[in-house]
Amino acid sequence: MSKQTIKKVIIPVAGFGTRFLPATKAQPKEMLTLVDKPVIQYIVEEAVESGITEIILVTGQNKRAIEDHFDRNFELEYRLKQKKKKSELEEIDRISNMAKFYYVRQQTPLGDGHAILQAINLVGKDEPVAVLFGDDIVVGKSPALKQLMDVYEQNLAPVIAAERVDKKEVNKYGIIDINGGKDKTNKVTELVEKPDIKNAPSNLAVIGKYIVTPEVLQALVKVKPDKGGEIRLIDALKSVLATQDVYSHEYEGTHYDCGSKLGFLKATIHFGLQHKELKRDFAKYLKSIKI
Ligand code: G1P
Repeated sequence: MSKQTIKKVIIPVAGFGTRFLPATKAQPKEMLTLVDKPVIQYIVEEAVESGITEIILVTGQNKRAIEDHFDRNFELEYRLKQKKKKSELEEIDRISNMAKFYYVRQQTPLGDGHAILQAINLVGKDEPVAVLFGDDIVVGKSPALKQLMDVYEQNLAPVIAAERVDKKEVNKYGIIDINGGKDKTNKVTELVEKPDIKNAPSNLAVIGKYIVTPEVLQALVKVKPDKGGEIRLIDALKSVLATQDVYSHEYEGTHYDCGSKLGFLKATIHFGLQHKELKRDFAKYLKSIKI
């Protein structure tokens, strides 16, 4: 396969977010905020900091707030200018100029693979592309996606973000078999979606960040819906395993699963303790509470 720089990311954001109801009844779950930034902005910033210049968001019903968030808002800009709120104005300006944004709709939520297929015409036939799921925030020295992109550059093959999880948690994730491999980057020998604890080949879990090659996208077109009627990216990755190398990479960084309430709370505490205006008072407050 010829080397191609990865410029685009596909981010599926059409899900209903039922785990956060009623908060998500009238707003997208991706717009829930961690301190003062919506979750989706952290994901987009991860992509931009990794060198991605084109962001493809696969949206659905009730997701307009996401488009508005990354667009300009002239009235707000005007008012901030009038009130001389310079730093707020700069931040608002930065958000809409971070990258080029494209939106496609997924009319029915038929799985993450189906969402990715809605964006296929925006990706060149020979073009590898990044895929980020909207719930997985990883905080570390270098963006998790950049780490995957480096693995791709070395191997020119699909890459899956991976993390060791507690054995009791394997049934919540795609689980990767790396045949006892001990390195951070390994060849994947098998993928099992949400196995029983008894049947899991390892405790190495798939986290929602991937480098997808044209071969994987071609395989995705042929994937049949699973038992739940969903077309899943993991099934396309499984089907290419027989004919080509797929790598898993245990990234450096701390993962927050913002699709779960506990993960979301942990992320809130992390970003609260990082926030330049709040960190001192927030740390003081946390130390003072009795649990
Ligand atoms: C999806 C994938 C799964 C992966 C997870 C990571 O599952 O199918 O392999 O471990 O994302 O977030 P979902 O959580 O969407 O059911």
